[in-house]
Amino acid sequence: MIIYKLKDYAEMSKKAALIIASQVNLKPNSVLGLATGSTPVETYKQIIKLYKDGNVDFEKVVAFNLDEYKGLKKENDQSYHYFMRDNLFNHININPNNTHIPDGSNMDAKHVCEEYENKINNLGPIDLQVLGIGLNGHIGFNEPDEHFTSKTNLVKLTKSTIDANSRFFDNINDVPTEAYTMGIGSIMKAKCIMLLASGESKADIIAQSFKGKITPLVPASILQMHPNVILIGDEAALSKLN
Ligand code: PGA
Repeated sequence: MIIYKLKDYAEMSKKAALIIASQVNLKPNSVLGLATGSTPVETYKQIIKLYKDGNVDFEKVVAFNLDEYKGLKKENDQSYHYFMRDNLFNHININPNNTHIPDGSNMDAKHVCEEYENKINNLGPIDLQVLGIGLNGHIGFNEPDEHFTSKTNLVKLTKSTIDANSRFFDNINDVPTEAYTMGIGSIMKAKCIMLLASGESKADIIAQSFKGKITPLVPASILQMHPNVILIGDEAALSKLN
C-alpha cells in the first residue's frame, strides 16, 4: 500500500488529480471508477484544470460511478448523475456515452444491479477506482453489515449515512433511504484503488480501516486485502495512522 500524507485538503486533492491524470496519460482508454461526496470535489476541480491546460485528454476514457440514490431522476440536483455532470463531466472532454452510473429512477432493483454489474464486467476491469470513506467505514454505499457484499446491490442506508448526507438536502425527510451501489466485490476487482480522506472526523475510521481487524462491520477494512491500494489523506485524516 502506498500512503500519501498531505498537509491539507488542497494538497491532497492536487495529488489525487495528478494520479488520475497519470493513469489516463499512461493508458488513454482507461476505465476509471469515480466517487461522489464532498471529498473528491476539489480533486475534480484540479482534474478540470489539468484538462484545460492541455495536460490530460479524456476522449477515450470510460467511467463507472460507485453509486446512486434509488428514486432520484438524473435531473434531480441531488442525484449523483447531476453531481458528476456538474462537478466533472460537463467540464472535460469525456464522451457522455462512456459515463456510467446506476439508474436511480428505475425502481426494478434486480434489473438495475444486474445490468450495471454486467456493464462493469464487459467494459472493465476498472483500472483506477477512486473511493471516499463514510464515517462508519462505508465505501460506495456498502454499509457495515454481517457480510461483505459482492456485486452491485440495493442497500438501505443507515441512520448515520442519512444524517451525514442530510447536509445536502433542504429537509432530512428528503434524503433517500435506499441506494444502488457497486458491491465490495465489484470494487475489489479494480486493478488499483485510491481512497481519499480529509479532516479530523475521518481519523478514527481511517485507523480502524487500515490498522484494525478486517471485518464487514468496517467495510473499508477489506482494502487491506487488495494488492494495489493508494491511501491519500491530509494530516488530520491520517493523524491516527502511524
Ligand atoms: P464525504 O462522503 O466525501 O462527503 O465525506 C464520503 C462517503 O460517504 O463515502
